[in-house]
Amino acid sequence: MRANEILLTLSEVTEEERRMTLYAAAIHDTCDSKYTPVNEAAKEIGYFLRSEFWPPEHIDALINIVTSMSYSKLKKSVSSGQIEYPNHGKWQRAYHVARHADLLEGYVVARCVMYNIHLYPEKSMDEHWQRATELFSERVFTYCSEGWIFFPYAIELAMSLEEEARRCLQEKSMDWPEPLIPENKN
Ligand SMILES: [Fe+2]
Repeated sequence: MRANEILLTLSEVTEEERRMTLYAAAIHDTCDSKYTPVNEAAKEIGYFLRSEFWPPEHIDALINIVTSMSYSKLKKSVSSGQIEYPNHGKWQRAYHVARHADLLEGYVVARCVMYNIHLYPEKSMDEHWQRATELFSERVFTYCSEGWIFFPYAIELAMSLEEEARRCLQEKSMDWPEPLIPENKN
């Protein structure tokens, strides 16, 4: 959904590029080593997309995109402040939009707290809020200043999401800001 919002602000987006971006954004978590064995997930995705009549080279491109967008993996590749993004050729912008959408989801404090409760059910709520506060200031609130988020519309969105996230952290609020579904103007 965030990916679609960003796409609407870009020019000359082809149908192909739109499809690649939206599918990558929608599918990426199903192919994340945090949740699942990546090779098996990639096979399932390939099977699904073949049933949707995707050309094989698009399927490969999508799998390459979703397996190379994780912030934590990219973070390890940073050398002297320079982020080393993989080269996805004609799909580079699709890659970045899908990656942006993933980062923007990270601004939901409730999601972070719930994930922490899931990981460490034995810890107290105070500890979960403490952890969320640390994670947001070390990581989420640096996405724009460190250049992880760079599409102008996404920066704007991140600024308002950051404001909301700071309020949630402050008030220990589990409010979950839902993105508005934009009209497709094309
Ligand atoms: Fe994600």
